[in-house]
Amino acid sequence: IDPTLDLFDEIEKLKKEKNAVILAHYYQDADIQDIADYIGDSLGLSQQAAKTDADIIVFAGVHFMAETAKILSPTKKVLLPDAKAGCSLADSCPPHLFKKFKEQYPDHLVITYVNCTAELKALSDIVCTSSNAIQIVESLPPEQKIIFGPDKNLGAYVAKKTGRDLVLWNGACMVHEIFSREKITKLKERHPDAKLLAHPECEDVILEMADYIGSTTGILKYATKSDAKEFIVATEPGIIHQMEKDNPAKVFIPAPPNNNCACNDCPHMKRNTLEKLYLCLKNELPEIEVPEDIIVRAVKPIERMLEISA
Ligand code: 13P
Ligand code: SF4
Repeated sequence: IDPTLDLFDEIEKLKKEKNAVILAHYYQDADIQDIADYIGDSLGLSQQAAKTDADIIVFAGVHFMAETAKILSPTKKVLLPDAKAGCSLADSCPPHLFKKFKEQYPDHLVITYVNCTAELKALSDIVCTSSNAIQIVESLPPEQKIIFGPDKNLGAYVAKKTGRDLVLWNGACMVHEIFSREKITKLKERHPDAKLLAHPECEDVILEMADYIGSTTGILKYATKSDAKEFIVATEPGIIHQMEKDNPAKVFIPAPPNNNCACNDCPHMKRNTLEKLYLCLKNELPEIEVPEDIIVRAVKPIERMLEISA
């Protein structure tokens, strides 16, 4: 790339020329969030992907998110700035193993968290996100037996909140599993008035300490509405960019992980860069393709989710 190019201007030009829309998740780099047409949590992003009239969707997020956009808008070209932007949670649930697992519970309905492959969605009855998982479980009769996958932490949280006995797949997200209860406790001693905001992909020991538990959009809205001045944020720190933009007078502290890393960046989300976003829009590559038979099967549980959360 020519170093004299203003990537913001170039991306804006290409977007207009090609009738493209940029959808970005809150875990993306600040630059990408700033150039996006829409920033949101997984539910908001899939709702946008379903209704856009753009010809090209550039999905600044990870592979399963771009796949979901393709399933909902199969006639559109869906691009992902880095084709290798995967997800440890989606990887923790290989579809052939999940199929066998599901066969052990033939009278159970399958709810899958959106953080999974298109093939896994095709094996599901209803998809959910962290913002509607409780609502979706509660929309089912109490006697309905349910398998919930792939995230065991979100599943356990939903089981606790709804009082339902869910059969859980043993999957987890590498980013949300490594927050340190001890380090957060020490941080709270130094910031006694700070509220702890946590994503439900965190382990129960972290969720137990939280003042608020919710999706990235939920966390952002809670911080904006709250009278508190300080917040400890137990999710991927990319969200702090919007939290600071919306609340310049408030202080946001990333929750510390239990390893020696300085932060909890998601290595998959952070594969995307502004440069890659520019090149992907320019070259219309890498493009996300989902086989037709998978689209036909996977769209039903996603649409069921969108109907319940409408
Ligand atoms: P939400 O933005 O839906 O809360 O999802 C968080 C996440 O881990 C996405 O990968
Ligand atoms: Fe996957 Fe976790 Fe990264 Fe989200 S934060 S994309 S769940 S690895």
